[in-house]
Amino acid sequence: TAKKIGVLVGSLRKESFCRKVAKALQELTPAGFSLELIEIGDLAMYNQDLDDEGHPPAAWTAFRECARNYDAFLFVTPEYNRSVPAVLKNALDIGSRPFGKNVLDGKPGAVMSVSPGGISGFGANHHLRQSLVCLNVPTMQQPEAYVGNAAVLFDTNGDLISDNTRAFFQKFMTAFTIWIMTNTGNNR
Ligand code: FNR
Repeated sequence: TAKKIGVLVGSLRKESFCRKVAKALQELTPAGFSLELIEIGDLAMYNQDLDDEGHPPAAWTAFRECARNYDAFLFVTPEYNRSVPAVLKNALDIGSRPFGKNVLDGKPGAVMSVSPGGISGFGANHHLRQSLVCLNVPTMQQPEAYVGNAAVLFDTNGDLISDNTRAFFQKFMTAFTIWIMTNTGNNR
């Protein structure tokens, strides 16, 4: 059966460059793997009381149950104020709790940061990696993926314009699938 990669996108806007990047990566996913978006926009801000009191919001429970079905996670994120957008950090916080029930535990991961600017989301990319260490997500080191100038990557259909970008995305996905195969089974 195909290995399932869940994608968490750190932007909620309709015309999100990150979403377009995720869609482009989906089309380049190697055989034997599937890539599906996991929606994180309806998750209320994490409040530990709701877990401790035994009535977590239905959306948290649905997200946790959904995430458990994935073999690996790909994070496609913009940079907000040189860091990870709150919506993505919130999803990671919810997935990591209750203590001992981290749904990401041991699942291989990869990060791609995306920005219309030239610094290419470097700050978000590396802040995210800091959390992924704590979450025990073995995260692919190379190739690093800092996607800059995102506003000129796509045509009006949302397809990639440049063969170079497509080749890099292909290389990234191939490396990630190899990473998944060699880093499965690390859960504590
Ligand atoms: C941004 N943006 C931004 N860009 C960047 O390269 N570094 C940054 O630190 C920030 N900070 C930032 C903060 C906030 C609150 C917003 C709303 C935006 C711009 C950002 O890269 C741009 O809006 C992208 O289009 C966001 O990604 P999506 O939504 O296109 O996927």
